[in-house]
Amino acid sequence: MSMRPLLRLRFAAFLALAACGGGGTDTPDPVGPPAVTAVSVAPATLNLQGIGATGALAATIAPSTAMASVTWSTNNAAVATVTGSGPSATVTAVSAGTATITATSGGRSGSATVTVTSTVRTLTLATSAFTLVPAQPQPLALTARDEGGAVITNPAVTYTTSAESVATVSSAGVITAVAPGTATITASAASANVTASVTVLEGGYVTASGGTITALGGQLQLVVPTGAVSAPTALTVRTVSTPPTNARLLANTAVLIEPAVTFASPATLRLRYTVPLAADVVETQLRLARLDGSTWQEQAVRVVDRTNRRVTALASTTGTWAVFVPPPSLRSFAQLAGREVGTAVSADALRSDATYRQLLAAEFNSVTPENVMKFGPIHPAPTTYNFADADSLLSFAAAHNMTVHGHVLLWHNQQPAWLTVGTPTRASLLAALRDHIQTVVTRYAGRIATWDVANEVIADNGTGLRASFWTTIAGPDIIDSAFAWARRADPNAKLYLNDYAVEAIGPKSDSMFALAMRLRAAGVPIDGIGLQAHFLVNPPSLAQQSANVARFVAAGFDVRYTELDVRLANGTDGLAAQATAYGNAVRACRTQLRCRAVTVWGFTDRYSWIPGAFPGFGRGHLWDDVFAPKPAYTGFRDAWAVP
Ligand code: G3I
Repeated sequence: MSMRPLLRLRFAAFLALAACGGGGTDTPDPVGPPAVTAVSVAPATLNLQGIGATGALAATIAPSTAMASVTWSTNNAAVATVTGSGPSATVTAVSAGTATITATSGGRSGSATVTVTSTVRTLTLATSAFTLVPAQPQPLALTARDEGGAVITNPAVTYTTSAESVATVSSAGVITAVAPGTATITASAASANVTASVTVLEGGYVTASGGTITALGGQLQLVVPTGAVSAPTALTVRTVSTPPTNARLLANTAVLIEPAVTFASPATLRLRYTVPLAADVVETQLRLARLDGSTWQEQAVRVVDRTNRRVTALASTTGTWAVFVPPPSLRSFAQLAGREVGTAVSADALRSDATYRQLLAAEFNSVTPENVMKFGPIHPAPTTYNFADADSLLSFAAAHNMTVHGHVLLWHNQQPAWLTVGTPTRASLLAALRDHIQTVVTRYAGRIATWDVANEVIADNGTGLRASFWTTIAGPDIIDSAFAWARRADPNAKLYLNDYAVEAIGPKSDSMFALAMRLRAAGVPIDGIGLQAHFLVNPPSLAQQSANVARFVAAGFDVRYTELDVRLANGTDGLAAQATAYGNAVRACRTQLRCRAVTVWGFTDRYSWIPGAFPGFGRGHLWDDVFAPKPAYTGFRDAWAVP
């Protein structure tokens, strides 16, 4: 039996060793197979899809001549097990995850990473029916399980909606309600799928990140600045039918927004009215109110947008809101009559009295500064002008769609001392008035529609001009210059000659008429006649007033009642006669289309010039000193309300 030399050598050595150890023969140890120096496993990574799936791994021992057994092991039998002997093994997927499979031999080892992805076998939803409101996001609480029933994290799921117009669904499974209706959301993965029903109601949703919502058929819009909401909350809205007391509710605009949402900062709440406004309702009348307990609190109206039919307020909370038309106001009737109904405005009251401001804005569409634009207050020193109060009034008027009647450029009263200090001359007075008119009229050009350019320049007995420092030092033609300078400063403003006790035909109004005609004949730009109408309870009759208005209009002038009030002697009643007097002024003006306005000289007894100027008299205005309307208000309004 020929054994290969190497083997024979080994056999002899073995025998010798055996003799020494076992039989007494001195033979060296046998040289065993080389030691394992390395073990590698292929493939290094193994992906198994689905529970129960198997894969093969192979171990390679270095050196190849090493003769050693291989044992296999897993570090995570919950994910993958391994069976095998010798250099090959089989891995079996148990659940999704990763495991390390190791081959060991001769004290050396190598490994492979096994990734088990399970297959979605079932999809379930914690909730499968949702009722949402527009803009409200709603995540689907989906659970995917594999064939072993184990939950699959981050399964590859596809989401679809049956009606994009009602509700959309993102790839992450977040539903967003879009508009009222129903939709079915389907989640699919592998061969599994599940559906959810979505019902979207009218309503709105405010998110923590802000955003615009619309609801109630586009009537409610809640624009929330980013970060304005302390926590996401769903708003539901529904119509309520109790409008503010004696107000006219615009149909379908009273909405209830609940639960109340606390805003971190004011949000803009826009309510839309979806019905055409009634003929006698003008947009400046629309109001917003929020139900506070059992009473409606009117909210400052930010903007009334007739085109888009919405009214905006600045709100910081929600609640029950309504767009409504308050009882008809003076301005709504005057607007229908194509006129202005105005009032002189006290700067102090405008600054300090909210009720005054609210009534002013609600009832009037024209304002006249009672004092702050007179020469003394606005131009107290040769090169000093105080515009602040006048600017405030202009801003208020702009915010409330009101025209402004400027009062007054040339007058003998309320003049600053510097004008006549020392020895004023024609030149000094002309220069001062020119600078004054150019500065003031230019500043407000385009924002003041009409001006009292010359005021009370007719002598009380009607014998010509009043003798004042203007007419006696500068000369009567200062009146002509005043109109010319005003026209140059604002070519679009209408320029008026204004006076009192000229509301009926008589000596003084005849003198006023003569002056107006002279100015016109001389090419002086005079447009209108202002009838102050500071009345007692027995003013000129309606017929007398109407005849007077008519003659100025016939001569080509516009007319305005500029300072109407009806003072009452203290202790006397006179309220009914006062009401008639207020009504007749309106009736007389309305006899002529070119009678453009009726302005009262203050509207509440609380801030009246009368007691100071006429001791023993007062109560001359439409509202009393606690803002309660008097019969005068009703008489005045009824005269406006007549179509
Ligand atoms: O502003 C000062 C204040 O600083 C001072 O403390 C106070 C002390 O009396 O006086 C204040 O000025 C008063 C001003 O009204 C502002 O309130 C004047 O004294 C006072 O005489 C002045 O009365 C005004 C009056 O014109 C005289 O200019 C009335 O309020 C104003 O209603 C009245 O209006 C005139 C029209 O301009 C022209 N047509 C007649 C009408 C009634 O007189």
